[in-house]
Amino acid sequence: MKAISMMKWAMVAVGASVFALSGAQAEEEKKAGIDVRNYPGNTPRTEKDEALKLKGNWRTGQKYYTAYCEACHLPSGAGNRDGSIPQLAGQHRTVLIKQLADIRSGVRYNPTMYPFARKLPSAQAVADVAAYVGTLCFPLDSGKYEGADAARQLVEGKQLYDNKCAKCHQANGAGNKDALYPVLAGQHNKYLLRQMTEVRDGKRVDVPVEMFEAIKSYDDAQLVAVAAYQASLKTPGLLMCRTPTDKARM
Ligand code: HEC
Ligand code: HEC
Repeated sequence: MKAISMMKWAMVAVGASVFALSGAQAEEEKKAGIDVRNYPGNTPRTEKDEALKLKGNWRTGQKYYTAYCEACHLPSGAGNRDGSIPQLAGQHRTVLIKQLADIRSGVRYNPTMYPFARKLPSAQAVADVAAYVGTLCFPLDSGKYEGADAARQLVEGKQLYDNKCAKCHQANGAGNKDALYPVLAGQHNKYLLRQMTEVRDGKRVDVPVEMFEAIKSYDDAQLVAVAAYQASLKTPGLLMCRTPTDKARM
């Protein structure tokens, strides 16, 4: 129910916006676009490369974010602790751009967000909204593993993570901005678990082969442990709340 009312809210916000298309158009785009990879009007893959080179304007990005994003990802960028909506605040600008371009082009299947992602009119808008997300403070109350066996899961998860994952995502979960490796520290436990399962099972496809190779041998119980561990990592200091002066840099 909550998700449905959020969707309605988002539609209303979108309808009221200066960037708006009508809700009916959004429906049509969704139907036309989401099930097929190579459909007409598909956002070119080169959008990612273009947006990465552009300097984002966070003030413009804020308008897009308010109109098209915050109904789900929240004004704080914290998403939902239950893992249904990822935290965006604190994620690398480069990763945000890559994911947005992938979602907009259908390379990353995200039917819930797709019609909203498609509202962004250009690669510049993608860069702008990523710049705005970069100004948000990193929330500190993300969803953790809450089972009674948490201590054991964290020990096992650390080993699995350090063995095969830390070389890219780093021991502290800070990822790598230039290589487009996502920050995992501070992300919601259940979101991490879902993404890893989808990567392992070949449903989220636009990941490096090395990551697929690393994760494919992990069974469900091991993924639970590794998600618990990643979600327990402390937000790296560098990614903590940015100040307004930093906004000028974005
Ligand atoms: C209707 C709800 C909804 C709206 C509106 C929405 N999103 Fe999302 N977004 C999601 C969901 C759900 C996911 C995760 C999908 C999954 O589990 O694979 C997601 C994923 C993402 C991701 C990938 C995060 C990661 O860690 O890989 C980014 C980036 C993102 N959204 C940015 C945005 C931006 C920017 C906007 C506005 C233009 C937006 N979203 C609007 C629901 C939404
Ligand atoms: C070669 C470097 C590399 C290795 C090794 C690697 N990853 Fe990744 N990982 C990535 C990249 C790049 C992405 C983003 C994929 C994309 O663009 O959609 C990613 C995405 C993820 C995500 C989704 C994050 C999000 O915000 O949606 C999770 C969770 C994750 N990796 C966990 C792991 C785990 C666990 C391992 C070890 C078993 C691992 N990764 C190994 C590079 C790597």
